[in-house]
Amino acid sequence: MNKNTDPLQSAEKSIGNSGTVSVAIDGPSGVGKTSIARSIAEKRHYLYIDTGAMFRALAVYYVKKGIPAEDEEQVILHLPEISLDMKHKEGTQHMIVNGTDVTDELRTEMISHAASVISQYGAVRTRLLEMQRMIAETENVVMDGRDIGTVVLPKATLKAFLTARPHVRAERRYRQLEALGKLDGATLESIEKDIEERDYRDSHREIAPLKPADDAVIIDTSDLTIGEVEAKILGALEERI
Ligand code: DC
Repeated sequence: MNKNTDPLQSAEKSIGNSGTVSVAIDGPSGVGKTSIARSIAEKRHYLYIDTGAMFRALAVYYVKKGIPAEDEEQVILHLPEISLDMKHKEGTQHMIVNGTDVTDELRTEMISHAASVISQYGAVRTRLLEMQRMIAETENVVMDGRDIGTVVLPKATLKAFLTARPHVRAERRYRQLEALGKLDGATLESIEKDIEERDYRDSHREIAPLKPADDAVIIDTSDLTIGEVEAKILGALEERI
């Protein structure tokens, strides 16, 4: 395919088919995606969608049911019995699994692991992909995840890919878990090891691996404040809309 450099065509390309504005923020965990995406959404009055929470909500179901995330056959077999809903209340995204709000159960190391494992399965990704695209067709969104710019919203108005050194990310995650009282015996070293393991799995899976889109703005957040990263993204967005 020829690369199209016609500015009119590019402008058309930057807006999704439905005319909504979408900002894709991808990257591994601990780069500050969630805080930054949420804050940008607030400033622009867009809807913030945390797609990781969708994988985590499914993971909660499997963990509670005692189905090992590694058992692909069982995970896929039980997928149709999960009804997944998302509600936004006072700026917080709530995940509802079969009528129960599981939002407070999403951020443990056990769920992080299970979510990363089940996110490798095609059937799981397809199920969530449909939900994610549908939201972006009807609302202006800031969506954070791993494959938003590459797979979910390839026509996103702006794609940002955030990175940070693994040690910095482990420290951020440690502080986050500590503040939530959810360290559960985890140490900085064990968190760093888990992060590296998940990064490897997320970036090497066959379907929709974690990687920047060709046209993504790449930002290393290691030595930047949230405000500085946000300013870069908002500046890039201004240029596109
Ligand atoms: O962003 P997070 O740590 O809450 O995401 C949890 C897991 O879900 C992560 O290990 C990879 C997976 N994920 C994904 O595969 N694609 C997304 N768009 C978002 C998350």
